[in-house]
Amino acid sequence: MTLDLAIRGGTIATASDVFRADVGIREGRIVEIAEGVGAARETLDAAGRLVLPGGIDSHVHISQPSGAGIRMADDFESGTRSALMGGNTTVLPFCLQGKGQSLREALQGYHALAEGQCYTDHSFHLIVSDATPSVLGQELPALVADGYTSFKVFMTYEDLRLNDAEILATMDTARRTGALVMVHCENEDAIRYLVGQHEARGDVAPRAHATTRPVAVEREATHRAVSLAEVVDVPVVIVHVSNGAALSEIRAARARGRRVVAETCPQYLVLTAADLEGMDWEGAKFVCSPPPRDAAEQVACWTGLETGDFDLFSSDHCPFRYDDAEGKLNPRGRTSFRHVPNGIPGVETRLPILFSEGVTKGRIDLSRFVALTATNHARIYGLERKGSIAIGMDADIAIWNPEARRTIRHADLHDGADYTPYEGLEVVGWPEDVILGGRLMVRGGVLVGQKGAGTYRPRVLSSLARVA
Ligand code: URP
Ligand code: ZN
Ligand code: ZN
Ligand code: ZN
Repeated sequence: MTLDLAIRGGTIATASDVFRADVGIREGRIVEIAEGVGAARETLDAAGRLVLPGGIDSHVHISQPSGAGIRMADDFESGTRSALMGGNTTVLPFCLQGKGQSLREALQGYHALAEGQCYTDHSFHLIVSDATPSVLGQELPALVADGYTSFKVFMTYEDLRLNDAEILATMDTARRTGALVMVHCENEDAIRYLVGQHEARGDVAPRAHATTRPVAVEREATHRAVSLAEVVDVPVVIVHVSNGAALSEIRAARARGRRVVAETCPQYLVLTAADLEGMDWEGAKFVCSPPPRDAAEQVACWTGLETGDFDLFSSDHCPFRYDDAEGKLNPRGRTSFRHVPNGIPGVETRLPILFSEGVTKGRIDLSRFVALTATNHARIYGLERKGSIAIGMDADIAIWNPEARRTIRHADLHDGADYTPYEGLEVVGWPEDVILGGRLMVRGGVLVGQKGAGTYRPRVLSSLARVA
């Protein structure tokens, strides 16, 4: 039978192997991997290039309302377009439960926003902000059965945080259903104390966002999150780990036999708190939580990536416009760092930054890159048939030119923000062709696919929960 598409002459990388072979695709799936595949209606020449699984970014925020009523810079069209252009084929955004809102109702809203708009496949994590007995006892178990198999809880943000009792109860629902809990680890009371001190002395510029959230704030919360998960006896994901001390808490928990997944993000590898010092509130462009740290913590995060302490490398894409009445620097944003919405864009630059700083510079090998950016996300979050190049898998593929030199410029990106925190960063290696479910979506760095090609994917239970 004729193939729909053949990728010839490239070097395939999976989480375990790197080898020369062609890939044959039919009806959206990979059906042949061989040195020479059959006749095809369309052929892509991948000589001199790398054939990698499309990136899976399991931590992005799209169309999510912020506490201050500020609109996010990306909707599902622009957010997934930017993801696709950066070599991704699946994203996992969050569905935020408002206080007093049912999760079903929240989900209906996000599905309505995403329907027909997406350039990548997608699935939703749930953010539990109102952990009532009916949400934990009835709603969540039904939603887990329907394919929403992970939820995030926050230890910080006034409007989102759960107390320890609520976190324990949420983890207990995860234990009973096999869902996976993700925790944002920062101690809200410690942050509030430090914010009070800073404001009392008039220290309100963006840099204060970092000094009110020092490493101890994250380390304590990380210790607490892994301990609460130990009490309930569930696996747990610690998201956006920014420093070595927090990672040590995770290592210690694993040494006690706990199943703890650790995620880090580009901002902790190439930004530092010094970026928040920018003149005239430019530092607001780097306000995210936890904040970027210093050179020593960057090294600690790299070591974690190299040694395998980190399982996931995600963007935590959370875009706000810098120069917009509704954005980071609305008039309130200029009165105190407290009013600058937390989060930075990065879904399009995640893969090139890790490829260039990690693979090109020799810190990690290609298979580790694939594991950190695709395979582990699929396994940990229960995305079937995704995250690898193997027969029977969805034909979600990014073809990389490992020698392409680019300087990251916001003007060249495709998101809805008006800046990138990585402006001017030089990278070597870029995804030039992207295939989603067998369809060519990006060719030679040019968008050729249509919005709506990306579909919603319900998920199965995490492989971590299934072994429980
Ligand atoms: O600053 C951040 N990270 N904003 C996004 C929300 C979150 O906590 O992940
Ligand atoms: Zn978070
Ligand atoms: Zn986030
Ligand atoms: Zn943009």
